[in-house]
Amino acid sequence: MRKKSTLSSLLIGLCFLSLCAHAESKSADAEGHEWWQHAVFYEIYPRSFADSNNDGIGDLKGITSKLDYLKELGVDAIWLTPCYPSPQVDFGYDVSDYVNIDPMYGTLADFDDMASAGKQRGIRIIMDLVMNHSSDQHKWFLDSRSSRTSAYRDWYVWRDGKVPNQPPNNWISIFGGPAWTFDPQTGQWYYRIFYSAQPDLNWRNPKVEKAMFDVTRWWYQRGVSGFRLDAVDTLFEDPKLTDNPVLPGISKYGDPNMESKYNTKLPELHGVLQRLRKVADENGAVLIGETWTRNIDELKLYYGGHGKELQMPMDLMFTTVNKLSAPEFRRQIAAADGAGGWPVYVISNHDIVRSYNRYGDGERNDAIAKLMAGMYLTLRGTPIMYYGEELGMENNDPKRKEDVKDPIGKLGWPEEKGRDGERTPMQWDSSANAGFSQSTPWLPVPPSFKTHNVEAELKDPDSVLQFYKHLLALRHENSSLREGRYIALNEDQPDVLSYLRRYKDQAVLVVLNMSGREQKVSFDLSKQGFSSGKIATLLTTLAAHPGEVPPSGLTLGPFAVYIAQISK
Ligand code: NOJ
Ligand code: CA
Repeated sequence: MRKKSTLSSLLIGLCFLSLCAHAESKSADAEGHEWWQHAVFYEIYPRSFADSNNDGIGDLKGITSKLDYLKELGVDAIWLTPCYPSPQVDFGYDVSDYVNIDPMYGTLADFDDMASAGKQRGIRIIMDLVMNHSSDQHKWFLDSRSSRTSAYRDWYVWRDGKVPNQPPNNWISIFGGPAWTFDPQTGQWYYRIFYSAQPDLNWRNPKVEKAMFDVTRWWYQRGVSGFRLDAVDTLFEDPKLTDNPVLPGISKYGDPNMESKYNTKLPELHGVLQRLRKVADENGAVLIGETWTRNIDELKLYYGGHGKELQMPMDLMFTTVNKLSAPEFRRQIAAADGAGGWPVYVISNHDIVRSYNRYGDGERNDAIAKLMAGMYLTLRGTPIMYYGEELGMENNDPKRKEDVKDPIGKLGWPEEKGRDGERTPMQWDSSANAGFSQSTPWLPVPPSFKTHNVEAELKDPDSVLQFYKHLLALRHENSSLREGRYIALNEDQPDVLSYLRRYKDQAVLVVLNMSGREQKVSFDLSKQGFSSGKIATLLTTLAAHPGEVPPSGLTLGPFAVYIAQISK
């Protein structure tokens, strides 16, 4: 990576100013943008981030000890995947108490320490709200299953079988097999779209809504700045239990393919989210949606009319682009940018194979990791990074079924190996277990931890980590990157994705070579009013960088990133 030497001191200075500014938490800037629109979010899988007590499992004290690293990286908010008490059947997505911390991660006092250390550094905390289902060990469900007349019976979805020994209808679980589990104690079936240990809550019961909304209030009072809402698509089911239409073929779990017409994305869920938003607004909080939409119109629904639903529904369609394709990314960006809300960009998470593997060509993966960063960290919208992405961490999938920890890998082996591969410990240094823990970690690190770790990459000016740091600093201090409109350039180009981020009389030009071949590009910026403007390189992976883009054009090496400031 090369950049102008004067730039680095400028970036450091401006980055410092920006950190001071966002610690103050102003509600909106001159453009009406809220804190979360300028924040960089960072997803932490607590089991895998840092292990303070050397039991092989990450914990809250571990996270607290790494807040300085996150601050220096340029992170403004961390989203913690569930760290509530849980039997850990789905590694925390089976919650048995929504208002506590699992002892394996620490205590509420550890949480408070983490939150206050975060506050001192201008890092906010976002919790994960598992709304659709609880653990089968939650006291609500233990009571619910105890008798047909129990107080909590109607907090879950209980039905008689269609005929004896057959589930009430043909719905199947996202994790494989029928979506119903028979409970001999009361002779009925309970609905669970995920694992059998994750019974679905009955959102048609107002008591469920009240209890879950109170959970959010409880955490707001403890200082959290918002929630990532798990599995919101699946909150409601058709009360008549109409069978889903069966499609040709079978799934990787051996089930018939099905259109989830009657048990996902029912319109009632939007009412819940709108009311949840009111509670969030009363607390100055942000709601992020795990929104698996099929098209942009579905995504628009989650923003709600006039921004009255989720501020940040994740555009997870973006993660389904599994090859480097300038036309495909251009299409997706245009759709998200034009959806009428604030775009949210994600390139991987704890359910998705790491971006390093999905886009890497096996030879120039580091260059490609920088290219991806050059894209999703310069778009108009909020990025949510996944821990380790900034290092070029790769998947480490289990090689044998007996090593699999994730329930879906156990059910779907060998076609579905589960999600262990993308959840391995954070790579801090080149010592044993990548410096994550002094004991054997719950999942093994990949061999590449020797080179791809925080300590080594901080020493290497050309590392993926250094590129992220420069880019995040730039993103915080540059008003065009913070506020500017997205304007696609050279839209017919098959291999190079280029765009402007235009703000007032300034713009940032981003040029990304999505191919393994050298590419020449030139730009006509007269339509944007920059025909005789000045151009100054801000950040590039090019070995030699021009001070300006000559009329003959810019020559980009394979997977090169070029980012420049343009002014009139
Ligand atoms: C989505 C979460 O991201 C995933 O990890 C989990 O297994 C399911 N929801 C069920 O909660
Ligand atoms: Ca631990």
